[in-house]
Amino acid sequence: MIIGIDIGSTTTKAVAVKNDGSMIRVKTKGLDALTSASGVLGKITMENNINIEEISGINITGVGAEKISASIFGIPVRKVVEFTAIGMGGRSLSGQDKIIIANIGTGTVIIEVDNEKISHFGGTGVGGGTIMGLSKKMLQVDNFDSIIELASSGDLKNVDLLIEDIADTDIGYLYKEVTAANFGKISDNASREDLALAILNMVYQVIGMLASFAARSRNLNTVIVTGNGSNNPIGKSILAEFNRMFGIAFEFPEYAEYTTAIGAALDFTG
Ligand SMILES: Nc1ncnc2c1ncn2[C@@H]1O[C@H](COP(=O)(O)OP(=O)(O)OP(=O)(O)O)[C@@H](O)[C@H]1O
Ligand SMILES: [Mg+2]
Repeated sequence: MIIGIDIGSTTTKAVAVKNDGSMIRVKTKGLDALTSASGVLGKITMENNINIEEISGINITGVGAEKISASIFGIPVRKVVEFTAIGMGGRSLSGQDKIIIANIGTGTVIIEVDNEKISHFGGTGVGGGTIMGLSKKMLQVDNFDSIIELASSGDLKNVDLLIEDIADTDIGYLYKEVTAANFGKISDNASREDLALAILNMVYQVIGMLASFAARSRNLNTVIVTGNGSNNPIGKSILAEFNRMFGIAFEFPEYAEYTTAIGAALDFTG
């Protein structure tokens, strides 16, 4: 059995691929790289009654991977380039060979997969970490359930400058409810709910636009969304607007937060 471990900037994920192809997944909060890797390995083996002897190799990726030595508990360790892992994981979870992936983690990475060729298209520092950082300061909230709950009753009109504020009608494909400037009309009366929605809206619009440009430049009309940022109901509905405006469909595969770990586990090329 191969274990894929993704030591991300915020969370560490592990996936065990059993001989019959089935998978087990576990997640932990990231500590230092070594504690995260050994902790997640302990968790996945103990919770699932896996014997260490059953593990033939550990494939490690993510920002913390370089801190891990050549073996853990005597099991050989192989490093997988994170972009390759995201590409392989996204290809496997989506079942498609030619895709653009927006991996929304602490930051956001855009990966292009063209069959066997996986390349780093680009990215942005705007991601889950941005939502968390702004929410801490502006809303005094530091967990996603609260951010989403607040945002679900927020009104963007109290924070964003909308197309309807500057034009009498839709402008081309820009509907009048679309943002013209994020935070561009912030009112003294904006509530925490309004601000929570505006933070999510800004982050997912930036990511949505960037990924749409990437997809369009390759004549594709879908983007596969991965990373923990794919698990956000409000983010999903903001990204759904890109289908209405640009004909780009954002897809959210099951287990997408494990994409990078899955891709690492699937990489036998090293
Ligand atoms: N429901 C959610 N919606 C959006 N972001 C979320 C959600 N839950 C957690 N996050 C944020 O996602 C980030 C962690 O995501 P993930 O585990 O995919 O990243 P990572 O692998 O640790 O980071 P990176 O890949 O950037 O090194 C954190 O910033 C966290 O605040
Ligand atoms: Mg990651």
